[in-house]
Amino acid sequence: MSLAIKVKPVRLKIEDVHISFGKTKVLQGIDLDIEPGEFFAFLGPSGSGKSTLLRAIAGFGPEPQGRILIDGIDILSLPPWKRDVGMVFQNYALWPHLTVQKNVAFGLEERSVPKKESKDRVLEALDMVGLTHLAGRHPSQLSGGQQQRVALARTIVIRPRLLLLDEPLSNLDANLRVQMRTDILKLQRKLGLTTIFVTHDQEEANTISDRMAVLDKGIIQQIGSPMELYDNPANPFVAHFLGTTNMIEGEVITKENKPVLRAGQDVELPLHMKVTGSRGAIVFRPQSVKVNPEEQDSASMCIRGTVKSREFLGATVRYGVQIGDVTVLADEAHQRGKRIYDELEQVRLVIPQKQIIFIPEA
Ligand SMILES: Nc1ncnc2c1ncn2[C@@H]1O[C@H](COP(=O)(O)OP(=O)(O)O)[C@@H](O)[C@H]1O
Ligand SMILES: [Mg+2]
Repeated sequence: MSLAIKVKPVRLKIEDVHISFGKTKVLQGIDLDIEPGEFFAFLGPSGSGKSTLLRAIAGFGPEPQGRILIDGIDILSLPPWKRDVGMVFQNYALWPHLTVQKNVAFGLEERSVPKKESKDRVLEALDMVGLTHLAGRHPSQLSGGQQQRVALARTIVIRPRLLLLDEPLSNLDANLRVQMRTDILKLQRKLGLTTIFVTHDQEEANTISDRMAVLDKGIIQQIGSPMELYDNPANPFVAHFLGTTNMIEGEVITKENKPVLRAGQDVELPLHMKVTGSRGAIVFRPQSVKVNPEEQDSASMCIRGTVKSREFLGATVRYGVQIGDVTVLADEAHQRGKRIYDELEQVRLVIPQKQIIFIPEA
């Protein structure tokens, strides 16, 4: 079957968007530039404003201040049905009394698409999500994953210029979520559709998106590719939200003309990177910390501490090591026969300098 659904990908620009519910400011000064054909994720905890922003693009919810442009044209004055934006809701919102085929055809009937064309487009959309064989069923006769596919088919059949997905996988069990996210990405690549995917799950955002915006409290904290954000978080929120991290806060002092981080009573750590401000934190991931390594490259930070906890996780052993009044987590890759350190043992932690970033206090 031909890929008649394919459309020219659009650019989405969001400029200084503010949204309030009554007196509550929910989004504060959102600026975004999403490239044509990009798979973009909004990632953030519950209540951070992800759905509100997505709904504003589709034309639902309170009227935003600012501008939202598709290919340079402000769409805020257009009603939802004139924006050519397809949205898949978290709860799918299928018609229970209609068959799969009729659910998918619904939007085309509303748009008075001729019967023959409508039939072809419905078949094509069902084919793309792998549901042709279930066209005659009702939603109650489908699994969660199948219902999700109907919701997707129903959205792409109208040939939107922009595809918006609000936590589309959160109602599915873990295995199916992994399968469906791959399928959604394949479908997006095939259609070339500029897509925004909302999730609170960092693994989901990491695996599926080209770039993402991390939101907290209605403010974009950082924008970039998953790896850029993981490796170079702009602030402590992003560092923690994207995965387990060590963070040691303290005062920056100068010793022998070199910057040193004083963290608590008796922890002083030399800083080998560019440092600004008088307070800040160093941030490094547990997998960057080596416990009692035989060799140590000179460009490393070395800290002595006491094992306070250890968790055997199979592939890794996670140690909690007490250093002054902070605990540093160290993930050691596990191999058969490898020695495991005991609680209260003294260990030497070594962290390569290039794995450590400094975040000045805001
Ligand atoms: N209809 C509404 N009326 C009042 N407050 C709302 C409404 N919808 C959402 N909010 C508030 O806006 C904030 C952001 O909500 P939402 O965009 O749904 O967050 P997310 O999708 O990131 O979980 C939350 O504090 C929520 O309570
Ligand atoms: Mg939401």
